[in-house]
Amino acid sequence: AEPGWTETTDVVVVGSGIAGLTAALYLREQGLHVTVVTKVNIDDGSTRWAQGGIAAVLDPLDTPQAHAYDTEIAGVGLCDPAAVRVLVEEGPARIRELIRRGAEFDRNPDGSLMLTREGGHRADRIVHAGGDATGAEVQRALHAAVRRDPWIRLVEHALVLDLMRSADGRACGITLHVLGEGTEDGVGAVLARAVVLATGGMGQIFSSTTNPSVSTGDGVALALRAGAAVTDVEFVQFHPTSFVTPGPVPGSPAVDPVQRPLISEALRGEGAHLVDESGERFMVGQHELAELAPRDVVAKGIYRVLRVTGADHVYLDARHLGREFLEGRFPTIMASTRGAGVDPATDLIPVAPAAHYASGGVRTDLHGRTSIDGLYACGEVACTGVHGANRLASNSLLEGLVFARRIADDIARELPPQAEPVRAAASGPAWVADPAIRAELQRAMTRGAGVLRSADSLATAAKELTRLAEQRSRPNTAAWEVTNLLTVATALVASARTRRETRGCHWREDHPAAADEWRGHLLNAVAPDGAL
Ligand code: SIN
Repeated sequence: AEPGWTETTDVVVVGSGIAGLTAALYLREQGLHVTVVTKVNIDDGSTRWAQGGIAAVLDPLDTPQAHAYDTEIAGVGLCDPAAVRVLVEEGPARIRELIRRGAEFDRNPDGSLMLTREGGHRADRIVHAGGDATGAEVQRALHAAVRRDPWIRLVEHALVLDLMRSADGRACGITLHVLGEGTEDGVGAVLARAVVLATGGMGQIFSSTTNPSVSTGDGVALALRAGAAVTDVEFVQFHPTSFVTPGPVPGSPAVDPVQRPLISEALRGEGAHLVDESGERFMVGQHELAELAPRDVVAKGIYRVLRVTGADHVYLDARHLGREFLEGRFPTIMASTRGAGVDPATDLIPVAPAAHYASGGVRTDLHGRTSIDGLYACGEVACTGVHGANRLASNSLLEGLVFARRIADDIARELPPQAEPVRAAASGPAWVADPAIRAELQRAMTRGAGVLRSADSLATAAKELTRLAEQRSRPNTAAWEVTNLLTVATALVASARTRRETRGCHWREDHPAAADEWRGHLLNAVAPDGAL
C-alpha cells in the first residue's frame, strides 16, 4: 500500500525506551528536529521493567579497567574490546547527564550514590532507583524530558515496517503501520535524513520471558529485510530468576501471558541464596562467585537441578534478609510475589530462567552506524560488541545511554540533505504470517532453541517454523508482529545450528565446550525479497 500520510523530519527514532528517548534528547541538543515513533504507548517497552540498575564506575576505588574485565569475562571471548572501552569509560558521564535530566537514584545518608552488586561484577558499581524500580524511574525522567521539548514529535501506535532507501542506498525514512489512520492497514511514512532503530529486544520469541508483549524483534526483522548486517542473534540471555507462578499475578501490571515478573539479580547481590527442593545451595562449588556467577553459569546450574528433579522451578531464599530490609530495598519484588501469595520474608520464592536479553542484533560500529549509510541502531536492537556471548548484568541500560550520545554526535557531524526514496513505499514484508501462530511459535522456540539446544532440537524447531510460516494472514499489526517473530526466530535457529560449540548463553548439549575456531561472529542473511 502507498503511505496514507508522509511527514518529514531531520531524524526519525524508532522506539521509546532508554535508547530511543536518550538519542532523541541528545539529537535535540545538536539542534535537530526529531520524530520518535513507537509501537504502542511511549512507556510500554522493556526499560520500565528493569529492576537492578545501571552499571558504571562511580566508586573511587573501582576502575574502568575492572569494569571492562568483568564485562569481557561474561562475554566469553566475543566482546569487542574497543566497544567495551567506550562503554566503561563514557558510562559515568552519561549517568551524570541522566541525573541532570531528572532521574533520581537511591543515595546514601551522606548524599553519595548508593551502589550495589550483581552477577559477574567484582565491585559494587550499580546505581538503582526506588530500590528495585530503576527502569521505571529512568523511563519517567526521560518521558518527562521528551514531553518538555516541543521539537520532539511523538507518534504512538505506529509499528515500523520497512526502511526507505535512496537511489544510492542510503536510509532516508521508514514506513509504518499506523492504528487509527482510517483503514485497517493504514500505512504511513516518515522521511528523514537519518534513521535510528531503538526498538528493543525479541524475548517474545519464547514462551516465558521477562520482556513485555511489544518485544518482538521488529528492528532486527527490518534490518534483515533491508540486508543490513545482523550478528550474534544466537546469544539470547536467559535471566536465571524469573518468578514462577501458576497464573497471572493479581494486581501485576504485566498482562502478557508469557511475560514473567523478574526477581532482580540484586536480590542475590544483597545476599539471597538459590536452593533446591531440599534446601541445598547448589551453586556453591560450581563457580567461585556461587549465586553471583555470570548469568549463563547460574541459568545452567538451575537447569541441571531441574533436569534431575523434573520440577519447573528452584527456589530463592531471601528470608534471612528480614522483612524490613526487603520492604525497603525491593518494593517491586515484594509486591509482585505477595500478589501471588508468596511472602519473601517467610517463604521461599519459586524461580526459573526466562528469556531476558538479546546480546546480538543489528551490527554497529563505535558510533552506532550499521552497514547501511544513514541507519543507526541503539540499545538492545543493536550489536555494538559490548556484550559478546553473554551480557554482564546492568550493562544494557548503560549501553543505551552511551551509544545514544555517540549516535547523536555522529549524525550531527555529517547529516546530508533529505534524499528521495527510490520507491514511494514498501508496505512491509513481502507476506505476513497468521497472528494465531504466536503461541505455537513461542513453544517451538522454547522447546528447540531455548536454554538448552542440540542439532536435533534445532532441526525440529526449524521444521516447525517453516510449517508455521505457511499460515498466512491479511496485514495488520498482530500479523506483522508475528512475521517479525518468525523472521528473527528463523535467523536465530540458523545461527544456533551453525555454531557447534557452547559459549556464553548459547548452550549446545551436543557440543558442550567452547572451541577456538568458533571465536567469531555469525552474520545473518535473508533473501533480498524479504522471504524467510
Ligand atoms: C536484574 O535486575 O536482575 C536485571 C538486570 C539486568 O538485566 O541487567
